Amino acid sequence: MTTLGIETSCDETGVALLSDGKLLANKVYSQIVHTRFGGVVPEIASREHTKKLLPLFNQILEETKCSLSDIDTIAVTYGPGLLCCLLVGLNFAKGLSYSKGIPIIGINHLEAHIYSPFITHKEFHYPFLSLLVSGGHTQIIKVNGLGNYEVLGYTLDDACGEAFDKVSKLIGLGYPGGPEIEKRAERGNAYAFDFPIPDPDGLNFSYSGLKTSVLYLYLDLSQEDKIRRIQDIAASFQRVAIESLIIKLERAIEETGIKYISVSGGVSANKLLKKRLGELDFEFVIPDLEFTMDNAAMIAFLGDKLFKKGIKSDLKIRAEPRLGL
Ligand code: KG4
Ligand code: ZN
Repeated sequence: MTTLGIETSCDETGVALLSDGKLLANKVYSQIVHTRFGGVVPEIASREHTKKLLPLFNQILEETKCSLSDIDTIAVTYGPGLLCCLLVGLNFAKGLSYSKGIPIIGINHLEAHIYSPFITHKEFHYPFLSLLVSGGHTQIIKVNGLGNYEVLGYTLDDACGEAFDKVSKLIGLGYPGGPEIEKRAERGNAYAFDFPIPDPDGLNFSYSGLKTSVLYLYLDLSQEDKIRRIQDIAASFQRVAIESLIIKLERAIEETGIKYISVSGGVSANKLLKKRLGELDFEFVIPDLEFTMDNAAMIAFLGDKLFKKGIKSDLKIRAEPRLGL
């Protein structure tokens, strides 16, 4: 069975083809146009998807020597995300489905992130805990089975990746902020500044206080120190942001007794996070780098799983910007 995956929920246009469990192609176009605004501009993002989706689709057909008639099923993100962006992918998928009579399934982007480590680490077992850390979400989820989720903790304000993006913008670095901060942090002193580690009650997260601490510190620095100490600020912020994830994860393991962890979403690319996870006493899986940020391979992968269980949608699927698990 060959599944076409389509992802356009935010600022990555993704198209992928998965055939009998094997990934034939995975193309992602990251919209660099947003860099100059320091964040995603929805209207521009949807226009970019409109421009890039069809050429990317044609490119994967050409590279894999597949034709439209080889596609058995279509999996497309229907939420959560930016409405005007979701609609581009969804309408493209519906058009293909309608014209060629190909079955379609709407995919929850969060659920696709949860399963993204298993595109390469094929073996897994339930229940497991999922730490989903991206630009839009920071959650710990108990995964009991496909479609059976308990959200144990979530962010009360900013997502972890969003905090990386905002701090990056504040200190004059680019977007997305995660890789920019990480690069500077490598040469900084992570203990130079003592930002408080956010630890709201239970398994919830909070990043707005940390962001404000960085803001106040930054405003107090001289012009010269704003530049001279940028690596120390990046390293100190990163240490605290990552430590907060680790604290909650350890607490979730203690509370549930589950020691098998899937970590996914854009922030799972962070090297300090991987290092800290490796130091702890539990088994974890993390996606290969190409599946950490938004991509269509994870959409096709989950679509394939659902289709095999007989689950599918119809042309009435609607975009759901605030879709949860
Ligand atoms: O999963 P993703 O591509 O999109 C969402 O669904 O949000 O995640 C993007 C987020 C951005 O906030 C970006 O700054 C962050 O992931 N990110 C990182 C790293 N690479 C990307 N954060 C920390 N360290 C990284 N290396
Ligand atoms: Zn995402």
